[in-house]
Amino acid sequence: MKLTREQIKYIKENTSLPRNDVGHAMSTYIGKTDKVAYSLFSLLPNRSFWVRYTKGIGSGIEKYTVVQGILEVQYEGHTFILNEGETLDASEYPELLSFYGEDAVEILVEMSTEEFEMNFRNTEIVQRDAAAIEKVDGYTFHHCSRIKDYSIELWKKLGQPIERVTMLRWGAYFHDIGKLAVPIEILNKPGKLTSEEWELMKSHTVKGAQMMREHEIIWLRDAAFIVEEHHERYDGKGYPHGLKGEEISLEASIVSVVDSFDAMTTNRVYRNALTIKEAIQEIIKGRGTQFNPTVVDAFLKLLHDQEFKWR
Ligand SMILES: [Fe+2]
Repeated sequence: MKLTREQIKYIKENTSLPRNDVGHAMSTYIGKTDKVAYSLFSLLPNRSFWVRYTKGIGSGIEKYTVVQGILEVQYEGHTFILNEGETLDASEYPELLSFYGEDAVEILVEMSTEEFEMNFRNTEIVQRDAAAIEKVDGYTFHHCSRIKDYSIELWKKLGQPIERVTMLRWGAYFHDIGKLAVPIEILNKPGKLTSEEWELMKSHTVKGAQMMREHEIIWLRDAAFIVEEHHERYDGKGYPHGLKGEEISLEASIVSVVDSFDAMTTNRVYRNALTIKEAIQEIIKGRGTQFNPTVVDAFLKLLHDQEFKWR
């Protein structure tokens, strides 16, 4: 199956087609046969995504064809380019594949119908939960996505194995899922919280971890520890357990920095946003007390590399 530029435009503009906005890309479900589901994956500029081929779900078909743009593929430390019209058959790559596009890339995905529909449904569930969190927390849309994307960038900057990125990805995305269990008046209270209210607020960590452990999507369960630890502090003065230094997982230490920075640069009911420069000063101030110093250093490098742009 090939797609012309006109067809791509039509698919992207056709509002009757089911689609999922996954933050770094838009996935549009084009159609299916018994065995194969066809979708258009529109990757945003300067973004990446990962694929691990899983044998034995439905027909086992999983192919990626670049229909517009240039895709950089990384596999076991090697990089190669997928040009327009070229197809990658994921079944030939048993380990994790990483895709990146400097500019926007349109990719035609052919996948086992059974697997695609399962993924598509799971993504909808994930987004429903994320939208619910954003609603109660008063953040702008895409907050969860942003924390997820920057956490992954930081993970890579720290030279951590890409194979373990999945847990971080979902832990970062759902770090505040427990806020769904905290009364909205407390979440958005402009003034100071009473000690009772503060206890309830802090409980979003353990409640969130519990929600993750019991989540209907199995692959979210392993990320519960990140949700539980994301308010721990390097000096041991955080919550819920007062973990210290290396006792806190690297994943949670990353989410802590990224989430704090994002919160500081966002307008909230109780205060106006800081500038990027002011927020950086706050992060530096917390280096070694609130935040893991290695993570802070990598974060500053990351900000420097992207010319201090955020969002
Ligand atoms: Fe939180």
